[in-house]
Amino acid sequence: MPDILIASASFLPHADPIPLPAPVWLFRFLHQLTLSLHFISVYLLLGGLLTAVLLNFLGHRRGSARAINASGAISNWLPIIMTYVINLGVPPLLFAQVLYGQALYASSILIGASWIAVIPLLIVCYQLLYLMKYRASDGKPFALLGLGSLLTAWAIARIYTMNMTLMLEPSIWQQAYATTQTGTLALSGPASWMRWGYMLSGGVSWVGLLLIWLARKSTIETEDKAFMRQLGTRLAQIGSVLMVAAGFAVWDAQPEVVQDACSFNHLGWRIGVSVWAIGTVGFVTAITYMYELTEASNWRIPLLASVCGLLQTVGFVFCRDLIRDASLGRFGFDVWDRIVVTNWSVVGLFLLLFVAGLGVLGWLISVGYRAKNEVNHE
Ligand code: HEM
Repeated sequence: MPDILIASASFLPHADPIPLPAPVWLFRFLHQLTLSLHFISVYLLLGGLLTAVLLNFLGHRRGSARAINASGAISNWLPIIMTYVINLGVPPLLFAQVLYGQALYASSILIGASWIAVIPLLIVCYQLLYLMKYRASDGKPFALLGLGSLLTAWAIARIYTMNMTLMLEPSIWQQAYATTQTGTLALSGPASWMRWGYMLSGGVSWVGLLLIWLARKSTIETEDKAFMRQLGTRLAQIGSVLMVAAGFAVWDAQPEVVQDACSFNHLGWRIGVSVWAIGTVGFVTAITYMYELTEASNWRIPLLASVCGLLQTVGFVFCRDLIRDASLGRFGFDVWDRIVVTNWSVVGLFLLLFVAGLGVLGWLISVGYRAKNEVNHE
């Protein structure tokens, strides 16, 4: 047995004996696509909350109408963004359980108390978003409510990063369970904190893009548009730099054998990192070019920046899966090694409904964006 392989039958539970109803590549593709969309929604939620809270707090403290209006424009969108976070989180969770259930179920049990706590935390976070929006529409300060929502969103993100990191370390499960059987395990290593940091940086970057899109709306006053565009540009640039630093830190926190498997010697890694890098450079270039050279009403450049941001996210999710495969590969787990009995008629029907569902989601976003009332809770 090679040294690299720390495989032991006792670390990983047996695979589910029921064959997969569709090829692994299809599950993987759908998982990466839906997870990319979930991550974009999470970025918008985390960054939107942070920015809205800071702007609202500083705006009321310093009497800046620009900052208060921008915080209101963001908070108006947060409950909608939350519906996307949740609805685009469910599909990748199902796909991840199908593909990586042997690892994901075990780690979920080890942190069971926090894992279950996601549901009440989510309810609190969501309720506070609505209260923020209502107060914003009445012109009242909402920074304290927003802070509560932000802290619960950060906590949920932290629980997810703990679980997704713990599932990659089967060798510590038995010891962890022997230490605590109450599901209150808390992971502290740098890997999980760096993953969390990457998602928070993404928030800073994507809320910048959100502000730029919102500044185009006809319901926003001219002075507010200029403020939101300028702030959005700076946040998108700063967030992108932070993402690059956090991305490297995530890689750096991996064990040496995982770093070797996720290096430029491997085609998959080269492709993933290239997509991520092209997306990042395209995103920053488009944002910077737009601010320096184009009119506020230009929609092509923000659209280009959004496409580049999507590319960056897809590249990140692809690399993230390669890290997962290399980590679990140390324990003899191979995601491609599954019995598949494809039921093509069910798969075809599913794909049809899936594409239609994505179309409806896109249409709903465009309806919301074109809506006349910026703030309305009647
Ligand atoms: C406020 C709400 C939420 C926040 C802030 C949030 C945040 C995050 C973060 C930060 C990660 C990345 C973890 C990592 O890679 O280390 C993640 C992954 C994930 N989240 Fe969410 N999430 C939220 C809600 C949800 C919900 C409601 C679901 C599903 C019902 C969900 C499903 C997932 C899945 C499936 C993954 C990754 C699975 C994989 O690794 O394959 N999330 N989430």
